[in-house]
Amino acid sequence: MLPRVLLVTSEALPLAKTGGLADAVSGLARALRDASVDATILMPAYPSALDAAIELEMVAELPGLVGGDATVWAGWAADAEIPVLLLRNDALYMRPGNPYVDPDGREFPDNAIRFAALAQAAQRISMGATPIRVPHIVHAHDWHAALTPLYLHAAGVKRPKTVLTIHNLAFQGNFPLSLADELGIPPAYRGSDGVEFWGQLNFMKAGLRYADRLTTVSATYAREILTPDFGNGLEGVLCQRTHELKAIPNGIDAEIWDPSIDPFLPEHFSALDMRGKVRNKLEMQRAFGLPTDPEAPVLAMGSRLTAQKMADVAVEIFPRLLAAHPRLQVAVLGCGERSVEEKLRALAEQHPRNLGVHIGYDERRGHLLHAGADMLLHGSRFEPFGLTPLYSMLYGTVPIASRVGGLADSITGLSSEPGAEVGAATGILFDGQTPDDMLRAVEHALSIFAQPHKWTALQKNGMTTHFGWEAPAAQYLNLYRSLAPVAPVGAPMVARRSGVIAPQAAPDVRKRA
Ligand code: ADP
Ligand code: GLC
Repeated sequence: MLPRVLLVTSEALPLAKTGGLADAVSGLARALRDASVDATILMPAYPSALDAAIELEMVAELPGLVGGDATVWAGWAADAEIPVLLLRNDALYMRPGNPYVDPDGREFPDNAIRFAALAQAAQRISMGATPIRVPHIVHAHDWHAALTPLYLHAAGVKRPKTVLTIHNLAFQGNFPLSLADELGIPPAYRGSDGVEFWGQLNFMKAGLRYADRLTTVSATYAREILTPDFGNGLEGVLCQRTHELKAIPNGIDAEIWDPSIDPFLPEHFSALDMRGKVRNKLEMQRAFGLPTDPEAPVLAMGSRLTAQKMADVAVEIFPRLLAAHPRLQVAVLGCGERSVEEKLRALAEQHPRNLGVHIGYDERRGHLLHAGADMLLHGSRFEPFGLTPLYSMLYGTVPIASRVGGLADSITGLSSEPGAEVGAATGILFDGQTPDDMLRAVEHALSIFAQPHKWTALQKNGMTTHFGWEAPAAQYLNLYRSLAPVAPVGAPMVARRSGVIAPQAAPDVRKRA
């Protein structure tokens, strides 16, 4: 009795990625399939997705979608483990840049249409309007997919049931309310108890209002977003739905993030045999233009360079740190706010032997950074989950992170009492958002780094922590089952190479009570 699940998303590894959303959706899909759930990803056919997917074949036509006629292509994510449905409308999705912005970093002006089309495609599939088998659960991720529950609700569809996962409430998809007609949002859904948000049309709010269940990616973030400090104006809407809001933390995909098998690394290592880490350190120093020195402490930062990640604060402390610790090396990988990128480039010119910067998005360098560094600086003003510091932990690179959101849940902070034992600690957690708060935390880490037995204990604690997807996937499965309790075992959502994909029985379109 396992449900068929359609995961609707803008990103999924390795088809398109700008951040942790891609890792989380693919990790979940793979884990659900390992648990014999028929999970399929639906996402736009960006150029990268068309390149990375294999065995693509057209399985449905979707005439008259917002933004124009579209088609659906079924295939597999590159490792052939995850079935994907790619929504193809080349005028909307075949563009240079990333899923949201052009190569100069400017938002695409028609993002409302691009992502409304994704939700409409999910709606049509869910209503049996295509040859694709109707799912029992439609699981939308973040604002890009969040109109899906509204469209289904407005069509009077009771099944499939809908789940919305909030990966980041700071991104909501706000657009002019005047687009409502074009997007097919009925007048009854445009008010303040619908999608309206301070005179705008808010995609995330549509999902928060109309999904059958809401989830977010850590227990602490689930509490935080009910408050004005973290709710980004949607705390009131969320407070009305606390009984339907559940925290399910992300897992980590061990096939991608494991230093004993990672194909991006020059040498493998594990908690049982750490010898290979030093070769990664030397390779990483070379990759960031730093002198190769196995003894120098290396502080890494690898993330979007934005206010969320306190990148503005990090650039303030780097010169102070380097002045106090002449042997320290800092390696930064990231892209984001132009002002931060420029400051980092300038700092790298001033400190060519101690500060290496790579501005850009580079998967291989990301893996090398986590493997080669000694510590990872990861400030966050808010953090729904925070995959990056956990990757670093598993690679023996001790995280120095803010005590917020998922970081507070998944990192065990070392006590700052002088002489405190390492115990079960896996990293350094700090409170506050000032340069001094961050600097104190890095100083604490450097003082422990100077005590090798303590440092090794911290590293090993982190490396042996288990963050698999099995437990989170089981929690999602329970949630799906509670929504679709008597799901019959059926044929897979997408019958491959059958020639004919049988249409489903008509969906249940009885009006909601
Ligand atoms: P967020 O989703 O808020 O950006 P996470 O830490 O959850 O934060 O996920 C970020 C993901 O993006 C990780 O997989 C991280 O390795 C990756 N990443 C971020 N910036 C870069 C970059 N410049 N190059 C390569 N990978 C990056
Ligand atoms: C978001 C969050 C990040 C989380 C990721 C995956 O982008 O910023 O904290 O890990 O989604 O859920």
